[in-house]
Amino acid sequence: MPEPVRYHMADGVAVLTISNPPVNALSHAVRARLQSLAERAAIDGNVRAIVIAAEGRTFPAGADISEFGKPPAAPWLPEVCARIEAIEKPVVAAIHGTALGGGFEVALAAHARIADAKAAVGLPEVKLGILPGAGGTQRTPRLCGAGPALDLMLSGEPIHARAAERLGLVDVIAKDDLLKEAIAFARKLADAEVPPLRSSDRAPQEADPAAWAAEIAKRREALKDTPLHAPPRIVDCVEAVQLLPFEAGLDFERAAFEDLVGTPQSAALRHAFFAERRAGKLPELKGVPPIEVDHVGIVGAGLMGSGIAVACLNAGHRVTLIEKNIETLEAGVERIIDIYDRQVARKKMSVEDRDARIGRLAGREDLDALAEADLVIEAVVEDMDIKQRVFASLGRITAPGTVLATNTSYLDIDEIARGSGRPEDVMGLHFFSPAQVMRLVEVIPGRETAANVLATGFDFAGTLGKIAVRAGVTDGFIGNRVLAAYRQAAELTLLDGAAPEEIDAAMRAFGFPLGPFQVSDLAGLDIAWARRKRLAATRDPAARYVSIPDRLCEMGRLGRKAGYGWYAYPKNGDRLGEVDPAVAAVVDEERIFQGVTPRKFSGGEIQRRCLVAMANEGAKLLAEGIARRPSDIDVVMMHGFAFPRWHGGPMMWADQRGLLQVQKDLRRLAEDDPAAWAPAPVFGDLIKNGRGFDSLNG
Ligand code: 3HC
Repeated sequence: MPEPVRYHMADGVAVLTISNPPVNALSHAVRARLQSLAERAAIDGNVRAIVIAAEGRTFPAGADISEFGKPPAAPWLPEVCARIEAIEKPVVAAIHGTALGGGFEVALAAHARIADAKAAVGLPEVKLGILPGAGGTQRTPRLCGAGPALDLMLSGEPIHARAAERLGLVDVIAKDDLLKEAIAFARKLADAEVPPLRSSDRAPQEADPAAWAAEIAKRREALKDTPLHAPPRIVDCVEAVQLLPFEAGLDFERAAFEDLVGTPQSAALRHAFFAERRAGKLPELKGVPPIEVDHVGIVGAGLMGSGIAVACLNAGHRVTLIEKNIETLEAGVERIIDIYDRQVARKKMSVEDRDARIGRLAGREDLDALAEADLVIEAVVEDMDIKQRVFASLGRITAPGTVLATNTSYLDIDEIARGSGRPEDVMGLHFFSPAQVMRLVEVIPGRETAANVLATGFDFAGTLGKIAVRAGVTDGFIGNRVLAAYRQAAELTLLDGAAPEEIDAAMRAFGFPLGPFQVSDLAGLDIAWARRKRLAATRDPAARYVSIPDRLCEMGRLGRKAGYGWYAYPKNGDRLGEVDPAVAAVVDEERIFQGVTPRKFSGGEIQRRCLVAMANEGAKLLAEGIARRPSDIDVVMMHGFAFPRWHGGPMMWADQRGLLQVQKDLRRLAEDDPAAWAPAPVFGDLIKNGRGFDSLNG
């Protein structure tokens, strides 16, 4: 094993180079070696100054997240930082790439920081449900003040080197050769023979205490309703900077860090981090080269088609948008231009960038324009006949090897592919609306999809900055199948006695931005209605069926777009909707018709019913091979359906509740209604072996 930190001398300066690919995470081996080499340099009489640098992509991007939750191994990062800061010779951090979290904390412990002009620094711990735990909460505000430090730590967003320089977090921006300049800088500091400038020596008391206190009070107020545990603790730590001496502040920070790292919330957020990265790992595609995509054809210029077009244009692709009706085509192109104009107006995009993107867009009425496309995405109405006809034409018109994708949300990819005569070139690429914003794409191979076509799906989604998840062919793939189970649970709970607004409030309290009925209203009730009609013939006759949404659709209550749905929307832009007695009347009638005596539900009971239903559907998707691993389901639900990230997705939620408990919940519900609630056999298998869904996340 090569050493994770190397030592060499240059011009009287000891250079400690961290080498732990891919992101130089500060694993135990790195910490131990960094500390021992720092000690060596500190006592070596030939060393006048020290530079800490890293090779490869980046200065350390943080502590090694995979070590969290395991027994801590000395030296801890705070000790390493303390040791570095205590050295009596100048220590300079040479930053390139992204110095994040513990990596940036090492740099803050150094006596000076020089950064590559393209570098960024940040403290993203909050995104993992923790806080900077190696002195970051104490050193950062001492260097840049409470407000900017809180911005950095509460947002978790990195800032560019120049912004960091303006804040006093970086001392020098390298002009050309970072390492050379870092060594020269370290020499200069040594020559000056001034004592090391330690962040911990800066006295925050010199900053206006009243302004500091006001900043703290303002942040506390802004966070008073947050469901997250880490942000208020970050504020506490920054307050401590004013109230405690540095060492005591470090202890205060450490205690908060340890509390947080042990919370289910942090475990869930860490799970989300790794789940997103795991989703793209498909062993069967290892070494399979994707087809290079430049020219993308999009068939259908509706909301979805134009959103996909924007996503492609943003990624630098050439796009030909097809719509056989000129008015619809023009409306689609206008929608795209409008999206860009709004970004220019909000100063999020330059006029040149907008023009360059629009310049890569062509609108055509004839599919023949796609003869030269590398990839075609069909986004026409959700109708099998129409889609098959489009694919029959695409199969004829496009060159062999052109990848053909359908954006269907529910329909059978194999049936769609059959029409093309080239099923090996066809797959599903299921975007979520608005496609230019939502980061999720389900990539669905059909029975005959070629490996390089599937590889192209993943690679292409990556170029769009999307998170791609593999799903199998089934009605609704992963996301809409779980959503349907969630809706069914919500509707059965409604039938059994809870009001729509109680169910919505309970799920919002869990962390969804909208409850299930509010989401239905937003999406339009007609989509699920069409699906119910399509599946009517195959529905389990023993299952309880809630016809309330059908009744609402028949009444024209199709959701927000109609002004009425599960709620009334008398005012424009009313997000949550108003409770409508007309809906309550339909619900009452259905209860009477089904002989249900309504009962009361607590918020917690409502949440449990919905969540066990989602986890149970996820378990079925795993057993059917539709989802490869539980964490893929979690990624789909977090990114496609706003499942609160701090619960980690329905499968992680089930693991955290305990599968035995979830199975018990399901069994109890199944006593009255086995068709809806019977637990999937996977629960029994995992419980028997004392394992959770996480054990299937290979
Ligand atoms: N620990 C362990 N593994 C890490 C890691 C970390 N801090 N950061 C990234 N990785 C791994 C990823 O899991 C991935 O592994 P894989 O190839 O096996 O899937 C690999 O490194 C590359 O990561 P990405 O795919 O994310 O690469 P990108 O180039 O897209 O992004 C990055 C690089 C911006 C550094 C991004 O990985 C990132 O944001 N990392 C997390 C940074 C972070 O949260 N740091 C704080 C850690 S907590 C901490 O430091 C506590 C301290 O205060 C005590």
